[in-house]
Amino acid sequence: MKRTLVKEALNAAGPMESLLLQGWVRTRRDAKAFSFVEVNDGSCLKGVQVIVDATLPDYAQVARAHTGASVAVRGRLVASQGQGQKWAVVATGFTVVGEADGTYPLQKKGHTLEFLREIAHLRPRSNLFGAVFRVRSRLAYAVHQFFQERGFHYVHTPIITASDAEGAGDMFRVTTLDLEHPPRTPEGALDHARDFFGRKTFLTVSGQLEGEIFATALSNIYTFGPTFRAENSNTSRHAAEFWMIEPEVAFCDLAGDMDLAEAFVKHLIRDAREHCAADLEFCGKFVDPGLLARLDFVLERPFQRCRYTDAVEILQRSGRKFEHAVAWGDNLQSEHERYLTEEHFRCPVTVYNYPRAIKAFYMRKNDGEAPDRQTVAAMDLLVPGIGEIIGGSQREERLAELREGMALHHLPEKDYWWYLDLRRYGTVPHAGFGLGFERMLMFVTGVANIRDVIPFARTPGSAEF
Ligand code: 4AD
Ligand code: MG
Repeated sequence: MKRTLVKEALNAAGPMESLLLQGWVRTRRDAKAFSFVEVNDGSCLKGVQVIVDATLPDYAQVARAHTGASVAVRGRLVASQGQGQKWAVVATGFTVVGEADGTYPLQKKGHTLEFLREIAHLRPRSNLFGAVFRVRSRLAYAVHQFFQERGFHYVHTPIITASDAEGAGDMFRVTTLDLEHPPRTPEGALDHARDFFGRKTFLTVSGQLEGEIFATALSNIYTFGPTFRAENSNTSRHAAEFWMIEPEVAFCDLAGDMDLAEAFVKHLIRDAREHCAADLEFCGKFVDPGLLARLDFVLERPFQRCRYTDAVEILQRSGRKFEHAVAWGDNLQSEHERYLTEEHFRCPVTVYNYPRAIKAFYMRKNDGEAPDRQTVAAMDLLVPGIGEIIGGSQREERLAELREGMALHHLPEKDYWWYLDLRRYGTVPHAGFGLGFERMLMFVTGVANIRDVIPFARTPGSAEF
């Protein structure tokens, strides 16, 4: 007999004579003449109520169906007598597939998120994590949908790389060298030439540079894959392994890039509102009461745009005592970003034209700015509750200016020969951005810690599972 998912059963158009459900017991309540067993299979937030009559030959099985056990139920789908649900199942057959005893950790409701992180192998069976990971799955689909419908091609950029895309140096090394007895050069240094790739290699921090290669061939491309950063920042918004979506568009400037970012973020929110309604309602009820109103508000209004220089002025005039004072030329700290989006603009805001010295080497130098206040065509999209979810820029397409930028950041040209070639052969203005997938999920679900929107978090000091 073909399995019916709980979601299909709960959404059935009419009663069903016979169906097979397979799932896990959430709760059981025994009365004199029958038992109620709530079965959830993760296909949706809700479980289905199964009524097992004490006269059923299989009834002896029910005593073994504790919370967490896996079961197979044959039965009829009938109109539910209880409130809140349209359908219930009257069992004609009931089998315990795998037992769970009293040590099953998800017994009671109301575990803390910290505790659930320690049992990340079981937490997907809880309501919250079921909801979060269904939303994650749906949004991954919506990412592809957004770009594919607009004629973008999906490019798989490498995970192992020899180049530092962001020039920030926070990279994980990839090596097969025997770390106890590494080969050494005559001078005593590590002999990278004898490593697997014959050179120093790392896990990528971004697929952008390779993305640019494909944008200058296929015009509109995007990447969507894991990225790795060895920043030792133990915050609620940083993970050492996270997923990033990076579109890259040929013949596009910064304004076009900001338009694309805004349309993309709105598409993802709209899609989740439509296709994950029950899961988001749950998040709105148990995670963040302001969630649904905030998402709808964000959908309805255009995002604000603000030059970095103006943002600094706003912050300086705010009268606010920030932990870090703001001066032109400094990076905006998370407290500044959040002031701008949460208190000043009270909506998502794209800050653009940042000082050249604090941004990556590949960003396009803005013409016509005073030399002591030189800026690049960079943009960061800031949202309430999180701060930066997108970082992007127009890329420097002029060979001479790119070389100047590399010299400024002390990057050796020989390592980027192919990147420079893109400016030698048929160069075009182009732009792109990176959306942190987990930060987007935090925004959409209201979940406050990045460790709770990725199945298995990798953070400093932690790589269990
Ligand atoms: O601003 P970032 O560093 O930009 C880039 O990597 C560019 N190459 C993107 C591009 O233009 N193609 O990172 C982009 C986004 C950030 O805005 C943030 O959402 C996310 O990636 N991000 C992180 N998310 C989780 N944990 C971390 N450690 C993250 N670092 C960046
Ligand atoms: Mg950034």
